[in-house]
Amino acid sequence: MTLAQANSAAVVELLNTYMNYARTDGIDLIGVAAIRKHDETQDACASDVAGNPNLLGALKEGLGILQTKVKGKLASWAPPEDELVVSLIEKIKPNTMVAWDGLVSLIDQARFCEENGIEGAFVELGCWKGGALGAMALANMEWGKKRRDLHGFDSFQGLPMPRADKDDMPWASVLGISASQCDGSLRPARATLLEASQMDVERLFVRLGYPLDHIYLRAGWFQDTVPAAWMDIDKIAILRLDGDLYDSYALSLDCLYDLVVPGGFVIFDDWDLKGCREAVGDFFSRRGIRAYLSQVDYSIRFLQKAA
Ligand SMILES: C[S@@+](CC[C@H](N)C(=O)[O-])C[C@H]1O[C@@H](n2cnc3c(N)ncnc32)[C@H](O)[C@@H]1O
Repeated sequence: MTLAQANSAAVVELLNTYMNYARTDGIDLIGVAAIRKHDETQDACASDVAGNPNLLGALKEGLGILQTKVKGKLASWAPPEDELVVSLIEKIKPNTMVAWDGLVSLIDQARFCEENGIEGAFVELGCWKGGALGAMALANMEWGKKRRDLHGFDSFQGLPMPRADKDDMPWASVLGISASQCDGSLRPARATLLEASQMDVERLFVRLGYPLDHIYLRAGWFQDTVPAAWMDIDKIAILRLDGDLYDSYALSLDCLYDLVVPGGFVIFDDWDLKGCREAVGDFFSRRGIRAYLSQVDYSIRFLQKAA
């Protein structure tokens, strides 16, 4: 075996290990890159990655972080109550890309709402296969006195086109979209990883045993569904924004931010993406909002509205 072949074999092994961790603990950007490369062709990807020390280094670092997180689940110092949270997360993990810390924090926030009488629906924009919405549903079933309305918005055909002037182009290229295609139009971008079906979400809620008459799935582009749903949603306790793109964030905030009640939460899942940061910043400046955003992990920030 030549040195190049040995390197390639090592890289393929690294990618395989990475994917196993990424699949059990959420998929981050490096994971997406690894999976795309792996799925394209193993050999081609191996020499490609082996010849790129930066990507190889990023993969190794990412793998270390994921390994630590997965081991963290088994840590013997976890308070007994955390075992309940672990068991809730295990029920919805296959249906979400949100990583461990984001799910723990989300369940905490939903629990807080239940225990402190924070009224309103749990809402997610960009619900994909429904796992994060499911985490809020489980918290409601565990700590809530009555079932809440849950609203999940998604195109169920992946992202629309990003905007070259507002969204991250390196990120778009990881998803296989070239800058010249990024005109913000409402047609599915080539991001098959982000496609999910409404059926995925419905099946999850049947499995979780949440009453289906409290679940509102809003299929279509946010640009159509959010203004249409706005009149039907009275109060929001948790507004979870996970739409990746500038326009998806801007529209969601314009229409729904004011429905979040005092003591309720607004969660921004994509702080690692320029489109999310800029849309939130622009919205805050337009509205004169000065809010401290708490950090959950590298991509999640949230605020709690003053009670
Ligand atoms: C990263 S995924 C969400 C992940 C999900 N919250 C979870 O628990 O894993 C982003 C989702 O946002 C949806 N999305 C983004 N912008 C949208 C828009 N303008 N209209 C409809 N869906 C959109 C995509 O279809 C995709 O399913």
